[in-house]
Amino acid sequence: MCGIVGYLGASEAVPVLFDLLRRLEYRGYDSAGIAILNGSILTSKAKGRVDDLISITPEIGGCTGIGHTRWATHGKPSSENAHPHCDCKDTIAVVHNGIIENYIELKDKLIDSGHEFRSETDSEVLPHLIEECYAGNLESSVRNALSMVRGSYAIAVVSTGEPDRIVIARKDSPLVVGLGSDGYFVASDVAAILKHTKDVIFMDDGEIGVINKDGVNVTDLDGVFVEKKVETITWDPESAEKSGYEHFMLKEIFEQPAVIRETFSGRISSDGIDLDAALPNVRRIVIIACGTSYHAGLFGRYVIERFARIPVDVEIASEFRYIDPIIDCGDLVIAITQSGETADTLAAIREAGSRGSQKLGVVNVLGSSITRDCPCIYTRAGPEIGVAATKSFTSQLAVLLLMAIRLGRERRMISTAEMDDLVSGLRQMSGNIQRVLNDAPLIKECAKLFTDADQFMFMGRGANYPVALEGALKLKEISYIPAEGFAAGELKHGPLALIYDGIPVVAIATKDGVHEKMLGNIKEVKARGATVIGIANESDTEIDKYVDYVLRVPDADPWIAPILSSVVLQLFAYYVAYHRGCEIDKPRNLAKSVTVE
Ligand code: G6P
Repeated sequence: MCGIVGYLGASEAVPVLFDLLRRLEYRGYDSAGIAILNGSILTSKAKGRVDDLISITPEIGGCTGIGHTRWATHGKPSSENAHPHCDCKDTIAVVHNGIIENYIELKDKLIDSGHEFRSETDSEVLPHLIEECYAGNLESSVRNALSMVRGSYAIAVVSTGEPDRIVIARKDSPLVVGLGSDGYFVASDVAAILKHTKDVIFMDDGEIGVINKDGVNVTDLDGVFVEKKVETITWDPESAEKSGYEHFMLKEIFEQPAVIRETFSGRISSDGIDLDAALPNVRRIVIIACGTSYHAGLFGRYVIERFARIPVDVEIASEFRYIDPIIDCGDLVIAITQSGETADTLAAIREAGSRGSQKLGVVNVLGSSITRDCPCIYTRAGPEIGVAATKSFTSQLAVLLLMAIRLGRERRMISTAEMDDLVSGLRQMSGNIQRVLNDAPLIKECAKLFTDADQFMFMGRGANYPVALEGALKLKEISYIPAEGFAAGELKHGPLALIYDGIPVVAIATKDGVHEKMLGNIKEVKARGATVIGIANESDTEIDKYVDYVLRVPDADPWIAPILSSVVLQLFAYYVAYHRGCEIDKPRNLAKSVTVE
């Protein structure tokens, strides 16, 4: 939530900042602003998107600047509340991602000492505190100011007193510096700066960096020098571009065959599964996650219990951290997170660690906060810009399948014959996803029929239950149509009451051990007037007798088919939203990376 950027170099700062902000816009898009150092501090801010900011920004020269794209927490979206925020004399400007928890107390004291505030934000205390502490050295005034602050922050600060300098600092909000041939690039995540450089320094909690023309000097909060490693990002810069697609979401859906190849690359052989981190031998696994990643966790439970026979609990991270969880060193807690920055997930995994459990992350974003907290397995989906998760979800499912097979092998729960079947299924997965994508025109046509639906239901059983939940989430996120996902066996315990004549029900009915039960559930909703869209295997000709419309996935192992069905439902949600004219990549009120509680 919120993205911060900065640039110091040989080029004009304004176009660079706009470029960086556009790439970070998925983190928040209710207002945006920039501040350029050029003798004085020149700011431009606008309510709305980065494009709104661009349209009102006059020509501003200068090669050093900072910028921000906001997802409002304290104070409504408005140009006054947009960052950067300045001190009373407009000599210090700050952009901030995070929350200053003690801002009311700090603000009261600052007002008592004569400071005048111009916004309702928590962040505005920062420039005033820095102004209060300023005695000729920006870095030490930032250090002193931060010692009074409680909360989370990634900040970038400029001051007219120190031209050609940006001071940055981080605590619990992501921050990265790119080292390019024509300057230094600050951003909340690597995807924003990939076009400019692949060489980056990841800032860690409690670090302050000073960027000037000669380089980046990093110290800790006590001023002790910290030697930082320059890391080279392997992501292809093209992967953060739309590359001719109308939306990032569509592009990311279509990237899935390549993503799955990458997720599996070098990890599968008939002897076993090779992963980046060890999987400890434990009595129980607890998976914690939010949103789409939580749905991946539910799938993880089915496959790990099936193949490894280890009991698995799956918890929503925001619940787990407050329920006084019963865990100990005999448990492995796995945090699943695309961004590696979700505040609740990070807090939950830390809580687990503090209670002695073993920890593991399943993460997509390179160098993200969780990778600093515990050993991680990367999903290798590449940058995901669309707010609605797609390729990150299927790559999470694929990694969880790999983990389940590996654990099952180690515990001798999977026979060689079963292993061979699974490995051959995994090898065909990428091609099978491509076959689903080839049907996109059919899915688009089907979606068009439901553009004006008031409500949707999605049902599945077994490993298709999380797919139903995710299908419903995708649709509501981007089309704003209320959609409920449920376990089809629960139909009679409530959801059936919602069925009325013509309500669309999506039934995930690929062939598995509960296929016949699923057909029974389809009959129950059909008998009450529902219009059923079935997701079925290619060779399943019987299904046509039960449903109104069929969307197909290739015949595949029942544990692999849910991944293929997920792709169908992503396309279905995309096209419904597309036909409704929704703003697909930036759904209202949402942000991709939820770095606040
Ligand atoms: C936000 C995003 C979702 C995502 C969830 C968890 O709500 O909009 O797409 O699933 O956060 O994010 P994570 O990065 O932890 O997977």
